[in-house]
Amino acid sequence: MRILGIETSCDETAASVVALGDGEPQILSSVVLSQIEEHAAFGGVVPEIAARAHVEALDGIVEAALADAGTSLAEIDAVAATAGPGLVGGLIVGLMTAKAIAAAAHKPLIAVNHLEGHALTARLTDGLSFPYLLLLVSGGHTQILLVRGVGDYQRWATTIDDALGEAFDKTAKMLGLPYPGGPSVEKAAASGDASRFAFPRPMKGEARPDFSFSGLKTAVRQAATAIAPLSDQDVADICASFQTAVSDALGDRVARTLARFRGKYPDVKTPALVVAGGVAANKTIRATLEALCRDNGFAFVAPPHALCTDNAAMIAWAGIERVRAGLVEPDAMDFVPRSRWPLDSVSAPVVGSGRRGAKA
Ligand code: KG4
Ligand code: ZN
Repeated sequence: MRILGIETSCDETAASVVALGDGEPQILSSVVLSQIEEHAAFGGVVPEIAARAHVEALDGIVEAALADAGTSLAEIDAVAATAGPGLVGGLIVGLMTAKAIAAAAHKPLIAVNHLEGHALTARLTDGLSFPYLLLLVSGGHTQILLVRGVGDYQRWATTIDDALGEAFDKTAKMLGLPYPGGPSVEKAAASGDASRFAFPRPMKGEARPDFSFSGLKTAVRQAATAIAPLSDQDVADICASFQTAVSDALGDRVARTLARFRGKYPDVKTPALVVAGGVAANKTIRATLEALCRDNGFAFVAPPHALCTDNAAMIAWAGIERVRAGLVEPDAMDFVPRSRWPLDSVSAPVVGSGRRGAKA
């Protein structure tokens, strides 16, 4: 089986070919064009700019993915495209292009949930078996999912306000650091004193499993305003204190979830926590999570960075998983892009989880 995947839900235009034969799955190509430069001047993703950039780039990216894979549309078994959640302009571009390719090449279309792509990546890279936990921390999402099977997910925690990547981006913007904020904050934090500011650890110790970051953002703003104008050392100290507060808060939430998993699945010998999303690249956060997993007997699974952040290999792979599981919708050609599309239709929306973030 050989599937062409297309991803356009946020600010990466991506296409990939993934194959599965008798052995391990193979990523035959994975082309990702980031729009970071287009959005940098605005300190965040501008939906209209993103949609236009996808229109301009996608055909060439698909051609490049097929060429890199040494294959052609005739040899593809199906086309899988992200159909939500995300910025609707980009989703329309990707899904319509996929529909056109599928129709012209007489191939089936698979409408993939972007979050399912992230959720199943660890099976592509590490051959993980169900069930496992996924911590997804990116610019648009902050969630912990129980991954029970293909198409079978339970959201165990989500953010009630900002996504974690968004909190990094907003903190960077406040401090005059360049976009994207995560890497800038991490770099500045390296020479900072993490004990200088006692920022809050939102939700720490609370029984409710969810995340919250907007209070922390406010605390950072107040601290910065109180000592303005900021020297480079002030900025570094704020970043270090912020990063430590975030790691601490995240660690508390994740610890709670690991315990819940243990309670629910006492017979799973080596339970696993998978991380995905751009924030998972942060070394302080990673170290916290690794230590937590070690202490609790969980395997810490972090797919390679390029497959943790937005890409189309995860979409092609989700397509393969869906075909294998017999979960392909017969009427996918009629699928309308969904800007909101929770993986888990059971968990109720969280109070306060308004309309923020590209993919909140
Ligand atoms: O997964 P991703 O590339 O794109 C989506 O949001 O879908 O994640 C991007 C987010 C941005 O908010 C960025 O600031 C954050 O991940 N990020 C980081 C780091 N690298 C990227 N946050 C903290 N530390 C980092 N090293
Ligand atoms: Zn994503």
